[in-house]
Amino acid sequence: MISAALSFGSFTLVPAERLLLVGDQRLRIGSRALDILIVLVSRAGEVISKDELVSLVWRNTFVEENNLRVHIASLRKILGESSDAPQYISNVPGRGYCFVAAISHKTSPVTPDEQLTFGGKLPLPRLANRIIGREAMLDLLERQLPEQRLLTLVGPGGIGKTTVAIALADRLKDHYPGGIAFVDLAGISNGALLTAFIATKAGGVLTSSDPLAELARQLNHRSVLLVLDCCEHMIDEVAVVAETLIAETQQLTILATAGSRCAFRPNGFFACRRWIVQAPTK
Ligand SMILES: Nc1ncnc2c1ncn2[C@@H]1O[C@H](COP(=O)(O)OP(=O)(O)O)[C@@H](O)[C@H]1O
Ligand SMILES: [Mg+2]
Repeated sequence: MISAALSFGSFTLVPAERLLLVGDQRLRIGSRALDILIVLVSRAGEVISKDELVSLVWRNTFVEENNLRVHIASLRKILGESSDAPQYISNVPGRGYCFVAAISHKTSPVTPDEQLTFGGKLPLPRLANRIIGREAMLDLLERQLPEQRLLTLVGPGGIGKTTVAIALADRLKDHYPGGIAFVDLAGISNGALLTAFIATKAGGVLTSSDPLAELARQLNHRSVLLVLDCCEHMIDEVAVVAETLIAETQQLTILATAGSRCAFRPNGFFACRRWIVQAPTK
């Protein structure tokens, strides 16, 4: 379930707001430590390997394992536990970390719309330059995307796929009252984590053992635009996730970008809904 607030012990975690509270008091917590906590809590009971945690939290930055240990230690300090007798974060030797405390989902009267905060809190990345020569393409895509619900912008690196995706998402803001989630996939290399990564980066928390089905359920009947940028290195995995989400939801729309040389699934509808991006004409 994607929930607004998750409680354990005397703590409350509100992932979408990046808030950790004790009682009603906000705790100071570093951004990485908070990311680690969100990943662990969202998959409570599951042992998450150190490599997985590092790749989810640090994305494409190289970090030493020691760095993770330092952040876990600071997290433990904030939660007031010792590594000898952990109440919350258990270190499973040779395997990874596991959140072991019972979690309750706040049942305060949150409306369904408040439960899911996809995209709502994430601003679109800023465009570095004024866009040149994409008016006609943007006009066409602005009409096509909501109709087709799944489009992939394909073209060589540097041609302007990300730029067009951001500009298009910005134009379509009012079309998606459920929010726009821009997720850069460049930082993830493990396809098995793709669904959790998308949910986490978009401000959601998945707690079921079938994250893809859960994500689809939660997104169903919500008018959300999900932008998946830089899919080339895991296009097969993205295709499965994107096609499943589109098939199992009513209103979700997905805009993906991928480099030209990536292989597409010959029969998936991911393959036939692509748009070749060429150099702008003026
Ligand atoms: N139409 C455009 N007008 C102005 N600058 C652009 C345009 N398209 C791309 N750029 C610039 O070119 C660079 C590469 O664009 P980007 O969208 O990141 O390409 P891609 O995602 O295809 O690799 C960026 O610095 C971007 O700001
Ligand atoms: Mg790009």
